[in-house]
Amino acid sequence: MTESHPPRISKAVIPAAGLGTRFLPATKATPKEMLPVVDKPAIQYVVEEAASAGLDDVLMITGRNKRPLEDHFDRNYELESALLKKGDEARLAKVQESSDLATMHYVRQGDPKGLGHAVLCAAPHVGNEPFAVLLGDDLIDPRDPLLARMVDVQERHGGSVIALMEVAPEQIHLYGCAAVKPTDDSDVVEVTGLVEKPDAADAPSNYAIIGRYVLDPHVFDILRKTEPGRGGEIQLTDALQQLAARYQSAADAEGKVGGPVHGVVFKGRRYDTGDRGDYLRAIVRLACEREDLGPDFQAWLRSYVSEEM
Ligand code: G1P
Repeated sequence: MTESHPPRISKAVIPAAGLGTRFLPATKATPKEMLPVVDKPAIQYVVEEAASAGLDDVLMITGRNKRPLEDHFDRNYELESALLKKGDEARLAKVQESSDLATMHYVRQGDPKGLGHAVLCAAPHVGNEPFAVLLGDDLIDPRDPLLARMVDVQERHGGSVIALMEVAPEQIHLYGCAAVKPTDDSDVVEVTGLVEKPDAADAPSNYAIIGRYVLDPHVFDILRKTEPGRGGEIQLTDALQQLAARYQSAADAEGKVGGPVHGVVFKGRRYDTGDRGDYLRAIVRLACEREDLGPDFQAWLRSYVSEEM
């Protein structure tokens, strides 16, 4: 994509209303999205990813106790002037980085009725254009630009695009799972069906949805009618299943409204911060890869593992 053709998709939606109960007591008064991954809050990686894919209009779906998210992406004049006075430009740049990333918007979810309901809260802001959804528990390494590829695929095929990753069969019950058929592009599949968190025995494949979506706005009409599904929640996966099924079975263009659902099969680096074990693994992996911290940290880690374990 050249600079003279700005991407059609400019809006990203980030659901961030969850209670973060898996991280209590850390999340009693601090949103889980603000927990640091090395030295940046997890949510900043996600906003950076959206911005670097050209999506600089970010809507966060928040809830009670999420004020720190708004503060983090806003200016902090007191801190900035203190750092300026000290001449600490490096830290000043770090403070300003998060407020310069994107134009931020916030809407509260009210009742936490599930991911599908959170996405539906974005409808008035998004309007009638395709948009991205990024889930904060999945961090995608910036060296493996998944979202930009998904935007390309959406521009080529229309409809919606989800990110898929092959997982071990015993892991599939943790994810939305897609039935797929191949396309001419080796990293793109057509999605023929979807099921939220199936038992391994019922899973149509080992393709798991990882938390990146580029969605056609027709998904809102479907979400408005989607009944609570797994866990009593309104599931985004169920709405996408309906979009895919409608497209697959439609005989004419009218029936195909909303377009197909494609999947981009991701083989890059993904860090899960969704539970405590995965969160710790993500921090260790990212710290090892950091130029400033990595060499010392790796040396310590090697000796810790060989001496203490
Ligand atoms: C959500 C989605 C699921 C997807 C997962 C990816 O589940 O409902 O389809 O596979 O995110 O992280 P959650 O992990 O929020 O329960």
